[in-house]
Amino acid sequence: MTAPRAVHDTAARHLAALSRDRRADFALRLDRWWPDLQAAAGELYPDPEVLVGRLVELAAAAYAARPEDLQLLDRRRLLTPDWLQQPDMAGYACYTERFAGDLDGVGERIDYLQELGVTYLHLMPLALPRPGDNDGGYAVADYRRVRPDLGSLRDLRRLAGTLRQHGISLVLDLVLNHVAREHDWAVRARAGDPTYRDYFLVFDDREQPDSYERTLPEVFPDFAPGNFTWDDDLAGWVWTTFNSWQWDLNWANPQVLLEFASLVLDMANLGVEVLRLDAIAFVWKRMGTDCQNQPEVHAVTQLLRTVARIAAPALAFKAEAIVGPRDLVAYLGTGRHAGRVSDLAYHNSLMVQVWSMLAARNTVLARHALAALPPVPASSTWITYVRCHDDIGWAIDDGDAAAVGLSGDGHRRFLSDWYAGSFPGTWADGLVFQHNPATGDRRISGTAASLVGLPHDPELGLARLVLAHAIVAGWGGIPVLWSGDELGLPNDAHWADEPGHAGDNRWAGRPRLDAALVAQRHDPSTVPGQVFGALAHLIRVRAGLPQLHAGAPVEVLPDTDDGVLAVVRRHPSGPLVGLYNVTEEPRPFPAARLEAAGLVDPWNALAGHRVDPDPDGTVWLPPYAAWWVVDHP
Ligand code: GLC
Repeated sequence: MTAPRAVHDTAARHLAALSRDRRADFALRLDRWWPDLQAAAGELYPDPEVLVGRLVELAAAAYAARPEDLQLLDRRRLLTPDWLQQPDMAGYACYTERFAGDLDGVGERIDYLQELGVTYLHLMPLALPRPGDNDGGYAVADYRRVRPDLGSLRDLRRLAGTLRQHGISLVLDLVLNHVAREHDWAVRARAGDPTYRDYFLVFDDREQPDSYERTLPEVFPDFAPGNFTWDDDLAGWVWTTFNSWQWDLNWANPQVLLEFASLVLDMANLGVEVLRLDAIAFVWKRMGTDCQNQPEVHAVTQLLRTVARIAAPALAFKAEAIVGPRDLVAYLGTGRHAGRVSDLAYHNSLMVQVWSMLAARNTVLARHALAALPPVPASSTWITYVRCHDDIGWAIDDGDAAAVGLSGDGHRRFLSDWYAGSFPGTWADGLVFQHNPATGDRRISGTAASLVGLPHDPELGLARLVLAHAIVAGWGGIPVLWSGDELGLPNDAHWADEPGHAGDNRWAGRPRLDAALVAQRHDPSTVPGQVFGALAHLIRVRAGLPQLHAGAPVEVLPDTDDGVLAVVRRHPSGPLVGLYNVTEEPRPFPAARLEAAGLVDPWNALAGHRVDPDPDGTVWLPPYAAWWVVDHP
């Protein structure tokens, strides 16, 4: 099925000034993506024709306006469709001002990122937020303006280009579940404009909100209980999943989709290479459900991505869906959405299991849970991470826990106690975020170093930190570091001092990187120097291992020692076995299993040594060992 003549004709009006070749290219892309566009629009809206026509026009206009260097990038990406899966991809995420002052400052720290091996840079929300508390920029007042303290749109465009010249892709957020109540759309809604009132979910009385609340969880039970906020100007209850000043958008209104399609294309033409779809799980609401992970969420992604594939195919999409393991894989595309939604999604389950293994000194639950995850489409890629700017929520499936004889509740309670620093013998120094007495949930904030106990025990803490990063970097996918973790920075002791931050201890895990700290990376006698050296080494070794291409299937070996996680990656160039000891004692692994995995002359690529078994055929993994075993090169 190709696009009808009339649709091509409408698009052609925007393409008149282009060369014949470029026009032909657009026509090819439109035909290629037409079925995906139609299918997704039909899933969402009763009368999709007009919408689809408008989307094609937007795509054509953006295509015509696409700067030349980005057209070249489109061609480059189309020649290497697996660019995100390559083992030399490594990510870094930070707040611009906390990492480098402003956008120009980021440009001046490119050498720092390159020393670390970074090829992907996620700058936290830069768009103009509401004044005052703004959830770290996630309450956007104007998507088309850059925070003036960071620079201008021109600075952003320039930075994107400079990063690209240095082999670093710029990643930015698209906050699409909500806008700030100060955003123009909300302002107009409050002024009584019915068009804009319909951009939001507003209810005259409590009847519907009460019905929804019966099955809705609370994201911020501490500082924003409930999911609806009364607004005097609207004379109604507006849906606010997050804070009371973050108004959820009504994605059932095709106008909202058009607004965001236009934003997506503008960001692509600015030079953004990956869009992080913030809180994407929440965009579609359905009575009687928790209003997360609804199938329409994936149709929304499919529409936005398809429009981008037509106009700016270099742009990739990343789903930020911090959901349970059973819901996660759909964000990379399953069923009718397979291969049509995000290219990337956060591997929240792996992250949680890493912390669980370290605290429990036991891999049984992780092995079961990770092995139980359904396969992902071969074209997609995980974002793997030890932690991010947010708190850690214990997304452990009750069924997985029960399958290995644990209680989900009990284990989650243990993890909260352990990482909050209240369990006997713990090394961790985290902070409890959003205690919910109704569910018993206690999420945890803190830097990676504080969560592994580096400040108290530099030696074992460092070993745990490197181990956690090795598991994540050895999984397959893009490993992303949160700023400061590469220097082993502890929790920011002064996190509450900044205006608007006091109530939100996620700021403890978002330290600032001043010049003196950054300089310590070259001094191996300091903790920052040791951590930086170790993580840069991981990323370097990783880049040289084709087995870590994300397209290679991952298999978690069953029946290993309780303290050992063994992960096999099969690749035409030869297998890789990741061996991880999550305890502080030596643990055994049978050499025969390396052989069974296909290794002839096992060699730990991370430390550069042969893997020598005992005479009885046992390989002993030292405390907190992290080995990537391949055949001797
Ligand atoms: C995402 C962000 C988080 C923010 C929320 C609401 O989960 O990572 O920081 O609070 O969305 O936008």
